[in-house]
Amino acid sequence: MAGLLLSLTFTGCEQPKETLSIIPVPLNTEIVGGAFAVNEQTQLWIDAPEADKKILQEYLAASPLKLSVATERPTDNFILLNQTEGVGDIKSQEGYVLTATKNGVEIQATSGAGLFYGVQTLLQMTKEANKVALGTITDEPRFEYRGMMLDVSRHFFGLDFVKKQIDAMAYYKLNRLHIHLTDAAGWRIEIKKYPRLTNFAAWRTGKNWKEWWNGDKKYVEEGSEGAVGGYFTQDQCREIVEYAKKHYITVIPEIEMPSHSEEVLTAYPELSCTHVPYKQADFCVGNEKTFEFLENVLLEVMEIFPSEYIHVGGDEASKKSWETCPLCQARMKKEGMKEIDELQSYLIHRVEKFLNEHGRNLLGWDEILEGGLAPNATVMSWRGVEGGLKAIEGGHRAIMSPGGFCYFDSYQDAPHTQPEAIGGYLPLKKVYSYDPIPETFTPEQAKLMYGVQANLWAEYIPTPEHLEYMIYPRILALAEVAWSAVPNKDYDDFHARALKAVDELRAKGYNTFDLKNEVGNRPGADKPIEHLGIGKKVVYVDSTQYYKGYAAGGDDALVNGILGGWSYTDQLWQGFLNGVDVTIDLEKETPIKSVNADFMQICGPGVFMPKQVIVSISNDGKEFTELAKVDHQVVKDDAVTFKTFGWSGEANARYVRYQASHDEQFGGFLFVDEIVIK
Ligand code: ACM
Repeated sequence: MAGLLLSLTFTGCEQPKETLSIIPVPLNTEIVGGAFAVNEQTQLWIDAPEADKKILQEYLAASPLKLSVATERPTDNFILLNQTEGVGDIKSQEGYVLTATKNGVEIQATSGAGLFYGVQTLLQMTKEANKVALGTITDEPRFEYRGMMLDVSRHFFGLDFVKKQIDAMAYYKLNRLHIHLTDAAGWRIEIKKYPRLTNFAAWRTGKNWKEWWNGDKKYVEEGSEGAVGGYFTQDQCREIVEYAKKHYITVIPEIEMPSHSEEVLTAYPELSCTHVPYKQADFCVGNEKTFEFLENVLLEVMEIFPSEYIHVGGDEASKKSWETCPLCQARMKKEGMKEIDELQSYLIHRVEKFLNEHGRNLLGWDEILEGGLAPNATVMSWRGVEGGLKAIEGGHRAIMSPGGFCYFDSYQDAPHTQPEAIGGYLPLKKVYSYDPIPETFTPEQAKLMYGVQANLWAEYIPTPEHLEYMIYPRILALAEVAWSAVPNKDYDDFHARALKAVDELRAKGYNTFDLKNEVGNRPGADKPIEHLGIGKKVVYVDSTQYYKGYAAGGDDALVNGILGGWSYTDQLWQGFLNGVDVTIDLEKETPIKSVNADFMQICGPGVFMPKQVIVSISNDGKEFTELAKVDHQVVKDDAVTFKTFGWSGEANARYVRYQASHDEQFGGFLFVDEIVIK
């Protein structure tokens, strides 16, 4: 069986279960033994409507199998692609059945997409030795929407790069490419009616987003000295759409509104509330000119992108300028609005109506729920899962892309081993663990769960190589979340397949994370440690209570034996805004040798080391003796760092008090994971 990409898994004393090294793992695989070898004489025959036939034929001719087309239906040594009315029990149009016998391989499906996915399975099966294990694979996706988002605004990535990612997406059966085309860092799509968007708002002073954002944050004329940026011409956009179509991928353009629009409002300041360039990120919702602009832009966008959905962003509007803008206030009055949020929903509703009138549907980040969701809108849930769940409860479709599982701009391994990222910690295993459908869902609600998407924001990702590094192999885990049936998922099995896939991707010229040398989570985060304070009572001083959003499970978080991981957001770290002051009651006088706590620092989101730590003890809980006072100079930097502060020596104590204070000049959060008493 060597070379067949078969691995044998034994569970207890059952028969060995044979699994193929396919990502995403198919629904049902029946292997009978033996193999069909594809060779130079193998002939391709496609029975499908002309358009699909052409796509599939060209695709297979260019594939490593280099299949040539037979002049008549072959009866031996064949690859047959057969589009039929119905295929077994398969319900999804994208499903397929692949049957391999010693005479050849037949793929049956009810659509070109289904055949294409059967072909991807065939290509994955033949990747090492051109052999196909005999048997039958019956397969269909769990979710209809299987997406990846690329942010080409923060750093611009061009046509060839996008096509290369489409190749890989198709190979892993993803079918939606969402392109974030507009944001403060640069407008990236040619709009004929508004040339300033691309001859000015697409160009900036700094190559690197972070330097630019923290620096002068200026836009410059296209072609001027030092101008950095770029954009897709309309022809290039059409080329992406066409290329994606040949990979059965729909491209969804995102045009941000009402916020994330600093670049537009600098090029066309009359669309902002103040009419002053470089002043705000939000469009003026009171001004009719805003709608004229948005509609004109969307008309050109719809002309290029045939997708059902147009993504309108909708996220993170500050809404600040709306509060004092006479036009916004007049709009509120006229429409009988009471809350400022209603201006956001006014804009979204109105744009939705416009899109609907043009036969399209609106997709937006979960903030489009604020002020009431537009009637036909679909929500892309990024601030956790609540937005998506709320949309579904209201009878809308949702696409899940929660930050904790789907934000590929997070660190994928120990931060000290990785290039600087925005923060977080999202290893392959965590992506893989995601299930978009909560157990509490009814079958009706589950039906409205349209799918799942990985988001790759590029603030900290200046090069195409780096972007690929953040995508691969995590997108493979997402592909399996999106496609595979839950009972077929097994992380260890996936990990073995992903290791092979990483080698394959590298051989194809993709820059990937080095999965086989993954460091893993911070020691103590996955497996409890032992110490004297475990399970003991912790008393918090009221004025320094932990922040409820970072409770890490509550009052026992600091004595539960579990250390924090690489991210303060993992709910293993407890967050404090007003210093730490906790006392642990060991219940009886106890000999102690050390009292320590770890802190983490990541300055971007305002997480800092303490300026001072004091450890003291008591036997009555009233009179405390100071054991150590540790002063620390907090230094702002780009790294994610971890440091232990405490005391060691010899003492007897029942009560142990641990205090830590902020450095006033930085403020922000202190995060502590455990008070370790030995
Ligand atoms: C988002 O991450 N602001 C959608």
